[in-house]
Amino acid sequence: MKMRAAVLEEFGKPLSVQEVDLEEPRAGEVLVRLEACGVCHTDLYTASGADPSGYAPAVLGHEGAGVVEAVGEDVGSLSPGDHVVTLFSPQCRECVHCLDPRTNLCLAIREEQGKGHLPDGTSRLSRDGEPIRHFMGTSTFAEYTVMPEIALARIDPEAPLDRACLFACGLSTGLGAAMYTAKVAQGSTCVVFGAGMVGLGAVAGCALQGAGRIICVDLSEGRLEMAREQGATDLLEADENTVERILEMTGGFGADYTFEATGLVGVMQQAVESARMGWGLCTIAGVAGKGETLDIIPRWLITGRRVAGSSFGGVKGRDQVPELIDRYMAGEINVDPFLSHELTLDEVNRGFELMEAQDGIRSVIHFN
Ligand SMILES: NC(=O)c1ccc[n+]([C@@H]2O[C@H](COP(=O)([O-])OP(=O)(O)OC[C@H]3O[C@@H](n4cnc5c(N)ncnc54)[C@H](O)[C@@H]3O)[C@@H](O)[C@H]2O)c1
Ligand SMILES: [Zn+2]
Ligand SMILES: [Zn+2]
Repeated sequence: MKMRAAVLEEFGKPLSVQEVDLEEPRAGEVLVRLEACGVCHTDLYTASGADPSGYAPAVLGHEGAGVVEAVGEDVGSLSPGDHVVTLFSPQCRECVHCLDPRTNLCLAIREEQGKGHLPDGTSRLSRDGEPIRHFMGTSTFAEYTVMPEIALARIDPEAPLDRACLFACGLSTGLGAAMYTAKVAQGSTCVVFGAGMVGLGAVAGCALQGAGRIICVDLSEGRLEMAREQGATDLLEADENTVERILEMTGGFGADYTFEATGLVGVMQQAVESARMGWGLCTIAGVAGKGETLDIIPRWLITGRRVAGSSFGGVKGRDQVPELIDRYMAGEINVDPFLSHELTLDEVNRGFELMEAQDGIRSVIHFN
């Protein structure tokens, strides 16, 4: 079939919205008609050429939500009409990682996904017979996508898809960092560094876990106000004394849980140093630049602090994204403030500009 999609032709150049060909889903694959897709930093990072593992031409986009149009052979868990959220982090439910509660890093299709292929090593996307690669296994800056069944989460059909799509990446990453990676205990003190989509999600996740105190740190007053809306009890404008101020606020000890959601290694260091002696757990969700390293004085660790990384918030996508969306539908997660701009597919590059200007939390593309 023919469809419109935003193609990364050349790094550092605007995406080109154009007509491309999409093949039918093969065995284990599903055709999804996209309704909405968020614009995320990872799309921009790849489009800019900064990501050394990036490739072109490719159809970008990974924060998608839509409706199943057709399924290939051997697809048992989805049928036409189902509402789905796309998962760049799949869940096959069979590999050694999927069977272990300690991780969400499914091993099933990593290699081919990383090369821009579907699991059988080929692409369903093309133009004039020349293949175009899939991005993150999702390619959701498009009217339709073909994806593996194991990378789609079936959600409540009542959930508005322009909200649901935020659970495909940033929001679930933040919520999950608090709920599944750190497993924040009731009554505890938490610090969240960064109040973008991921940090605000972490604030909301700490609140859902019943944290007693949630300190949020950011450079932007406006974003800190959004953190308050999500349950932050204390707001800190970041400066060179951030760690000292947090220690002062916590009786000299630091917080039970800290979260880093900026991608800056200097802030990661602050997050480690703000974690409490004895048992403080620092969870790192930000993605640092290629080649950057994190400096930790070993004594911080010997004296009982721990550091954890969190990819997609530790969320096992097919099981837990629907659960998070159910909690949103039950009124426990306030998603509306994150939706800052509504765009058409043709305006996708405007989404990048808004993100670079830090204008709003998320721009969402609507397809119709
Ligand atoms: N682990 C994952 O699976 C995953 C998924 C999505 C995004 N990410 C990463 O998470 C990070 C955050 O993503 P986002 O979409 O929320 O980004 P964002 O740019 O919207 O938010 C980052 C925030 O950090 C704030 N900040 C900058 N310097 C600071 C400082 N010194 N102290 C405190 N705050 C500071 C900024 O003001 C901004 O509000 C990025 O690195 C992104 O790549 C990781
Ligand atoms: Zn993302
Ligand atoms: Zn798996």
